[in-house]
Amino acid sequence: MRVGVVGLKRGLHLAVWCRRVGIDVAAVCDRTAERRAAARDEFPQAFVAVRWEELLERRLDAVLLANDFDAHAPLALAFLERGVHVLSETAACVDLAEGRELIAVAERSSATYSFAENYVAHPHVRLLRQAVDAGELGRISLIEADYLHGMAPSAVTDLTGDPAHWRGRIAPTAYCTHTVSPVLALTGAWPVEVTAFPADLAGPRSAVVMAVRLSSGALALTRHGFLQGEPDSHWSWLSVRGTRALAESVRAPGERAWSVRVRTEAWAAPDGRTREEERTPPALVLDGAGPAGEQVERADEGTVLILQALRDTVERGAPPLVGVRQAVAASLVGVAGAESLRDGSRPVPLPDFSGEVPDRRGV
Ligand SMILES: NC(=O)c1ccc[n+]([C@@H]2O[C@H](COP(=O)([O-])OP(=O)(O)OC[C@H]3O[C@@H](n4cnc5c(N)ncnc54)[C@H](O)[C@@H]3O)[C@@H](O)[C@H]2O)c1
Repeated sequence: MRVGVVGLKRGLHLAVWCRRVGIDVAAVCDRTAERRAAARDEFPQAFVAVRWEELLERRLDAVLLANDFDAHAPLALAFLERGVHVLSETAACVDLAEGRELIAVAERSSATYSFAENYVAHPHVRLLRQAVDAGELGRISLIEADYLHGMAPSAVTDLTGDPAHWRGRIAPTAYCTHTVSPVLALTGAWPVEVTAFPADLAGPRSAVVMAVRLSSGALALTRHGFLQGEPDSHWSWLSVRGTRALAESVRAPGERAWSVRVRTEAWAAPDGRTREEERTPPALVLDGAGPAGEQVERADEGTVLILQALRDTVERGAPPLVGVRQAVAASLVGVAGAESLRDGSRPVPLPDFSGEVPDRRGV
């Protein structure tokens, strides 16, 4: 399988993992010379492009989009129209019109759209999913997800202070996909209404809390941005409260942050005794392609799994791990959240993404 990669910071990391899982990186693209040079060092055989449109002319099975956060949809549309499979980093669209078009084009394309949402495949999220799928928790009532960085104020300014860079120009709600995508994956539900709050009015762009009503009737609370107390599980922490038990990431430093605590009260336990259990995710070991038997770093497990899922989709027709509708839904939570923020934390309804092409309610 031959892929091209657009945007060579996160994209170069993805490309290196492609090689390790046995995917051929045939073309790379970045508009900056420095990033192209770094990619050329890693992949001397690859075609190197300045403009992403050049990759449309190459013989590629798939393209990985890791360009600016708020500019993925036009590229995704162009490659899907050419019959090239797309794995897109984690904003699918910037408004409803773009989201509708992306769904329509992806669903009529001979190729597929996958969202590069490694947070859905992180070790702790997979453990939570096992508990949910096994029915241990009952129906999910409340689900919380954090994606938090505890950086120094000067480092936050360095990262987000340039209004010309996507990190400086996107709405504070926009980068909600690393919290909302796991919520949608764990619940199997769709977002129907979003209310967003700045965490602290003294720094309203730093971090946001969103209350997202889900189609299942459950409530999701998401927190993302820059707040102290970052989780060592790649900045991600989740908690799932069901009608019969709770399962949540362990709040602990280091390796234990990837573990999950499951709490069942006596009334719900088969033996009538309160049960408190801590589960450790099994190691992920690369098999087949790549250096066999190599253990993957915890923080990269999600990345490896989304790349392996892309290969299964392209080569074997498996459904995308996170498909276009979930990608658009998660991204539009951030768009609706921005509208809510602008309007004094008013609840903003979202269209129905479940089957029909979304209508124009809400955003
Ligand atoms: N899933 C994850 O864990 C994860 C981690 C980091 C970044 N990301 C995502 O990856 C994307 C990129 O993030 P980043 O941190 O690498 O950003 P970045 O701004 O540091 O790098 C983006 C690169 O893309 C290049 N680029 C942008 N537009 C281009 C275009 N039209 N043609 C060619 N090159 C172009 C830029 O020159 C730059 O080198 C974002 O969507 C971000 O959300 C995801």
